[in-house]
Order: sequence, then structure tokens, then C-alpha cells
Amino acid sequence: MTVESVKPVTPEASELREPPLAGGGVPLLGHGWKLARDPLAFMSQLRDHGDIVRIKLGPKTVYAVTTPALTGAMALSPDYIIAGPLWESLEGLLGKEGVATANGPLHRRQRRTVQPAFRLDAIPAYGPIMEEETRALVERWKGGETIDCTSESFRIAVRVAARCLLRGQFMDERAERLCIALASVFQGMYHRMVVPLGPLYRLPLPANREFNRALADLHLLVDEIVAERRASGQKPDDLLTALLEAKDDNGDPIGEQEIHDQVVAILTPGSETIASTIMSLLLVLADHPEQADKVCAEVREVTGGRPVAFDDVRKLTHTNNVVIEAMRLRPAVWILTRRAVTETELGGYRIPAGADIVYSPYAIQRDPRSYERHLDFDPDRWLPERSKDIPKYAMRPFSVGNRKCPSDHFSMALLTLVTAVLADGYRFEQVPGSVDATRVGITLRPQRLRLKPVPR
Ligand code: HEM
Repeated sequence: MTVESVKPVTPEASELREPPLAGGGVPLLGHGWKLARDPLAFMSQLRDHGDIVRIKLGPKTVYAVTTPALTGAMALSPDYIIAGPLWESLEGLLGKEGVATANGPLHRRQRRTVQPAFRLDAIPAYGPIMEEETRALVERWKGGETIDCTSESFRIAVRVAARCLLRGQFMDERAERLCIALASVFQGMYHRMVVPLGPLYRLPLPANREFNRALADLHLLVDEIVAERRASGQKPDDLLTALLEAKDDNGDPIGEQEIHDQVVAILTPGSETIASTIMSLLLVLADHPEQADKVCAEVREVTGGRPVAFDDVRKLTHTNNVVIEAMRLRPAVWILTRRAVTETELGGYRIPAGADIVYSPYAIQRDPRSYERHLDFDPDRWLPERSKDIPKYAMRPFSVGNRKCPSDHFSMALLTLVTAVLADGYRFEQVPGSVDATRVGITLRPQRLRLKPVPR
């Protein structure tokens, strides 16, 4: 029990309402079967039942926050920490000492170490690597053969994160390994989260073996990256050096486990989210050729026909809006969780201490109450004269508050550059066998996207 959780309940708090129970639950399973069967549809209809609703997952009660304003208020409030089933499953597998899962003073200290690498003024130094990797990606497609968007997107995501932040050399083979490991690990973690069968996941079944192998390889890769840097004796000005030199609150070097978990905590969210978003952007370019042409026209107007450079990114305002709109309709991060550390109030409802809370950026960003023609792909809704009507917190793909993604500027610069280079170089067509349905896992992405790039 934390000190906060014994804070006395004020009389006003005791008069607060209990959030309504969402409809559609069944005895014993509650809403779990609906959540497991079609999580996106389930999360998207919850606001019809209230601003905050209770959902039952078996015997457990979870609180779902459904309005933009209340998700913003929660993210900014000190009454909630990162916790809950999603994070506990991540912690158990990826480590307890990384910035993405730590709380309190440890989290604050870790953010201080990590943040400088992502500051707005640090991003231009990554420009040459982003440019080089983006060009290499499209150069590989010159032959016009079908591309497997999953591996291509992972490849660039891992290479850019590893080369910019960890200055890793010879990342090709590691990028492939990391891609395979992450795909299995994230899929397995998602299963373990939504279907918590506990000891059954320890049985020597093929799926469990594959999961364990992938997880072991992920940790081995991180050990290799750290060992290689130490053996080199070099201390380039990058995130890995900052982690290796970080001190704890007593001024002592941080432990090996924390260094390891920190690298995992940067590489895993960094690769999975960027790769998923690039896949969604490729799908947008294939499905909306008129949008792809508009991006291409903007790029050529800005560059005058020379290859796109990192410095062009800030002038590519329409391309940037295409990226935002793709992230709105197909957010990589579709569900987030928190835990109340104290009994508290949200939107006039009583939230008990220890309550697990979920909210879905997917549901918030597709809500017809916030967006006109909410399912249309309309990048111009982000023009200043139109975006002012969008409710606050209805589009926060990187979240807000103390857990906000440190990588928002880094990610937007990379994604805008990638979109510009792709649309400038090619038109895209889906080929037979391509499956563009949304695959729901820890992140969202097209299931098995296969495209034919046609040079412009
Ligand atoms: C946290 C989204 C890219 C590293 C987060 C959170 C979101 C998010 C929503 C907050 C989670 C929460 O509130 O519970 C995204 C999206 C990305 C992206 C949409 C790209 C499309 C990246 C990249 C990196 C990264 C490229 C690193 C290279 C992190 C870390 C955290 C985080 C370390 C944890 C921060 C903390 O808890 O203090 N991200 N992210 N992300 N992200 Fe990202």
C-alpha cells in the first residue's frame, strides 16, 4: 500500500457516483469475450454507455475512460501511474527497470537521462542517417518486385533507431533478428495479456517455444549491442553513452540490469510503433492514389525535383498532415492503461485506489463526436483553420503528461521524410495475396501487406 492510497476520503469524494457498467456483459466472462473477439469495435462503442464505464473481465473490474477531455485529465494527473495488465505483462517479459514501465523517482531520473537524445534541437543531427536509410529503402525496390511491407518497415524502423540512438554498426543482420524476435514477442505478449492462462504458457508447446526463443534472442541482441560498445572503448555523443554513464540518485553508476532494460525499453517501442505506422502509410499511399499524387506534387514543389532531404521536412506541411491523418485512423498505439494510486475523482465519478483503467486512442481518434466524416481519410482536417474545431486531447498519438512519448519530434520527422520519399519515387498497388485487414496486437498494423512499387 502506498502512502497516497491511505489518503482520507473527503466527504465530497464519498458522494461521487460509481461509473455505469457497460452493456453486453455475460455471466462469468463479463465483457472479456467481446474484448477478445473484436477489441476495436468493443472499445469504440463504450462511450455510448458513459464518459467512464466499468467493464468486467472475468471477476475483475476495469474502468474505461471514453472522452478526450477525461483521458487528457487522467494523463496529466499525479493520481495515476503506469500499471495494469498491459504493463505487467510487458514488465515480466521485457524487464522492470526500463523507462517505459518504471514509476515515481526512478522514472523521473530515467527520463532525465533519455530526454536529451530526443530534444527538438537534437533531431537535425539524425537527419543524415534518416535520409540515408530512407533512400536505401526505396533503392532496394528498383526491380519492381513485390515488397513485403512488414519486413521492409521493420527494417528501416530498427535501423534508424539503432543507428541514431545506439550508433550500432552492422545492424543489417541484427535488424532482421530483431524484427523476427519482436514480431513473435509482441504477438505472444498480446495473447498472454488478453488470454491470461498462466502456467499453460510454460508448457513445452511449439508456440511457447517459439515465443521463448524470440524473447531470449531479443535480450541476447541487447547484450551484444552493449558489450560491443564497451569493447570499442568509444563514447560517442548518443543515447547509449548517456545510459552507460548514467548515475543513480546516490551518484553511483546504474546497474547492468537497468542498462539492459533501458535499451530494451527504447528499442522495442521505437521499432514496433514506427514500423506499424510506416505499414499504415504504405497502405494509405496504395489505397488513396490521389493523396499519394498530392504528396508527390508537394515534394516536387519544395525540392524542385532533386532528392528529398531531411531539411525539406519542415516545409512539407501537407505530407505531415497525411502522416497525422494516417496516425489518427490507424494508430499504432491503440490501447493504454493506468492504475489509480489513490481514491480519486474523474469526470464526477469515484475511481477507487488500485483501479485498473484503460483507454483507447483508436476509439477516441475515430469518434464521430469529435470528427466530422470521422472515417474519411482527410488530411486537410489538420489545416489550422479546420483543426481548431477538433476537441482538445482528441488527437494525442504520443500521449501527454509525464509519460508522453519522448520520441514525438524524432518520429514525426522520420515518418514525414519516409512518406515524402516513398510518394516521390513510386505509386503503390496491392498484389494478390496481400491482406490489408487490421491486425490487432500490442500495436495495430495491416495484417500482411504486399505491394508492387511502380516507379513514377
Ligand atoms: C511512450 C506512442 C515512437 C519510445 C509512448 C506513449 C505513446 C507512444 C502513446 C505513451 C504511453 C502511455 O501513455 O502509457 C508512440 C508512437 C510512435 C512512437 C505513436 C511512432 C509512431 C517511439 C520511438 C521511440 C519511443 C521511435 C524510441 C526510439 C518511447 C518510450 C516511451 C514511449 C521510451 C515511454 C515513456 C515513459 O513512460 O516515460 N510512445 N511512440 N516511441 N515511447 Fe513512443
